[in-house]
Amino acid sequence: MSDAALDVVEFLLTTRVYSDDRSLDENDLPPEYRRVFWTGGGDDDGSGATRGGISRPLSATNSTVREATDVDQPWQAVSDLMFTDRDDFSGTLTLGQQEMAEKWFAERADDERIFENPTLAKHFEDHDEFADAFDVDYEESRDANRPIQADRVWIDGLLEEYFDDEDDEEMLDLVEVRAPEEVDVTLDDLVLTEDQEGEIDKIAKAIEHRDYLADIGLREIGKLLFVGPPGTGKTSTAQALAHDMDLPFVEVKLSMITSQYLGETAKNVDKTFEVAKRLSPCILFIDEFDFVAKTRRSDEHAALKRAVNTLLKSIDNISLIQDDVLLIGATNHPDQLDAAAWRRFDEIINFPKPDFGMRADILRVVTRTMDIEDFDPEFIADVTEGLTGSDLRMVMREAVLEALTEDRTTLTQQDLIDAVEEFEERDNLKNMDMIDGDHDALVAGGSVGGGSGGGKASSDGGHSHGHDHDHGHEH
Ligand SMILES: Nc1ncnc2c1ncn2[C@@H]1O[C@H](COP(=O)(O)OP(=O)(O)OP(=O)(O)O)[C@@H](O)[C@H]1O
Ligand SMILES: [Mg+2]
Repeated sequence: MSDAALDVVEFLLTTRVYSDDRSLDENDLPPEYRRVFWTGGGDDDGSGATRGGISRPLSATNSTVREATDVDQPWQAVSDLMFTDRDDFSGTLTLGQQEMAEKWFAERADDERIFENPTLAKHFEDHDEFADAFDVDYEESRDANRPIQADRVWIDGLLEEYFDDEDDEEMLDLVEVRAPEEVDVTLDDLVLTEDQEGEIDKIAKAIEHRDYLADIGLREIGKLLFVGPPGTGKTSTAQALAHDMDLPFVEVKLSMITSQYLGETAKNVDKTFEVAKRLSPCILFIDEFDFVAKTRRSDEHAALKRAVNTLLKSIDNISLIQDDVLLIGATNHPDQLDAAAWRRFDEIINFPKPDFGMRADILRVVTRTMDIEDFDPEFIADVTEGLTGSDLRMVMREAVLEALTEDRTTLTQQDLIDAVEEFEERDNLKNMDMIDGDHDALVAGGSVGGGSGGGKASSDGGHSHGHDHDHGHEH
């Protein structure tokens, strides 16, 4: 019997069980099933907003089954089983004989399949005749199932509910909300320092045990500031946390504040925090945090100052323990933050440029799925002192594209070495001051490329890179 039949029967059985057992809720449905039955929020009749949800009974048509299971021809896959029926008029697929379907399914499904479907895990646990069929615990299965809050449909429903009039459009320019299912970076993809890993473990534990922390009155937790040069993984780490912990990722773009109609800005900042509270538990990520300090210091428009003050106040009023919002700020310019801004974060996490060992690890991670002859990541790490994770990614991209111009999809170590050189040439140009021009490279035949220190190395005092396995300290 094909897996397609098993997939379709699982779906039909799930819809039946879910429709009958009112103690089940949307978190008992696998995300792929839930998605097809979710009806969004909005307030079409003016009767007050609805959050959207899943209403019983769930009915299965060829197209819902196809969408949920990826089986192309659902009815064909199960039509010769004795316990399946199709209503020719509505196109609904049903189980004519539920018991027979259960037995058939229990004989073929394995524990893993049941574990990923809390609805069925509960059903088979509740029925004595299947007591020995599976070794799966319903509660564990439900805990492992992705929560509805991580689904795009749920987030859209909420956003529609709260921001359905036109005035709110500019508000939505200020924030971007991503569902964890849409974030494609995980902590496994990132090479972190021991320090960073320690802090991340701590915060993960704090999120997990926030009820306990509330009980003992510990509230000063859950506001992190990531500091470090561009391309060192600040944004990626925040996103990876969202992905791995199934939390929506709400990003505030502070630079948008200045481009908005200023009178509205303070109100919109308020609303941003409102969004985060509604979507909680979630991560609220505020990039370019130095913008705040700059605005407070300088002689800015009063409305802008008001907006920034609102932002600081909102930060004070939001809490991981009370509101289930983890706040992460990020900045490239920690030196520009004033005391008022620093004071608001309870952990500062440093994102240094990667050292020799980390560079080698990043190269290994980035090349995980690539074919490279004679690959020697340590050698490349050795000649890329001062480069960030983002730079190393660019080097690899360059190497891949170069090889493609020769129709090769297998790289060689030499391709990587060439790409490093290429990268340094570009980097030198980027860092050159074209006006003041006392730079060698401005004169044809100058020392661009060819192994003198990269632009970054020369700007911090003319170290040439190479055999010094230390950080490229920047601040
Ligand atoms: N330590 C690292 N391990 C693996 N990949 C990394 C690391 N640091 C950076 N990268 C990669 O570099 C790219 C850019 O990183 P990211 O955007 O997170 O940097 P950032 O610190 O937020 O930079 P900016 O300050 O410019 O916003 C990402 O694709 C990321 O995966
Ligand atoms: Mg970033």
